Amino acid sequence: MTRRALVIGGNRGIGLELVRQLRGLGHEVVATCRGDVGGLEAIEGVEIETNLDVATDHGWGALAGRVGKLTDVFVNAGIYLDEGPIGGLDLSVVLRDFEVNALGALRATQAALPAMEDGAKLVLITSRMGSIADNDSGGSYGYRMSKAALNAAGKSLSIDLRPRRIAVAIVHPGWVKTDMTDHRAPVEPRDSVAGILARWSALTLATSGTFWHMNGQVLPW
Ligand SMILES: NC(=O)c1ccc[n+]([C@@H]2O[C@H](COP(=O)([O-])OP(=O)(O)OC[C@H]3O[C@@H](n4cnc5c(N)ncnc54)[C@H](OP(=O)(O)O)[C@@H]3O)[C@@H](O)[C@H]2O)c1
Repeated sequence: MTRRALVIGGNRGIGLELVRQLRGLGHEVVATCRGDVGGLEAIEGVEIETNLDVATDHGWGALAGRVGKLTDVFVNAGIYLDEGPIGGLDLSVVLRDFEVNALGALRATQAALPAMEDGAKLVLITSRMGSIADNDSGGSYGYRMSKAALNAAGKSLSIDLRPRRIAVAIVHPGWVKTDMTDHRAPVEPRDSVAGILARWSALTLATSGTFWHMNGQVLPW
């Protein structure tokens, strides 16, 4: 059976590399972006859905009717914003992190659900910075809080979608060389995505709801 994936936020960084590798595996791929299609146009055969900003309701309602039946959904879109130190913390920036990383990921998942086959797989791209147990450096309030909230949503999704045999992986992609890290991080997108796809491939209902590092390590909440 040909697999058909939806990648939310597929126009650059890890999302774009996900699209590239999924196409390389011969899968059908629909990629969403909010504006700039970025590198998607250079990838043969990818179907592109534009004007989908995870932070707004606009356009999401009609998506499931357009994308066909999905075997896999990767929710990747995310932001890391500088909100300043605790003394002068800009709470509007913290709220923006929530709107995109937590609510946005849930909105996109909600929109994709009607198109997902029973037995499909859902991969949420989170961050180990959302781990409370792993936090030994403080700061990054908006990012940490919003990714912790996404992790909580991922756990609930793994329970709520079990009757449909949809398994959910909550995956940290590593510290990856993308725009988000000013390309200063050590992990190449191709290696990060190879790890993410290994987690996706191994994902079953028995492991649904687990918080993984892309390298296979189970991360603490
Ligand atoms: N890079 C790392 O080291 C690292 C570590 C841990 C977790 N992550 C997570 O991995 C995911 C991908 O990150 P990346 O490193 O590839 O970052 P990136 O290069 O900055 O790409 C971010 C992607 O998210 C999309 N996006 C941002 N806001 C959006 C919105 N409101 N609506 C729709 N799409 C939106 C961007 O689209 P636009 O082009 O329209 O902005 C872009 O496609 C994120 O969830 C991030 O938190 C990354």
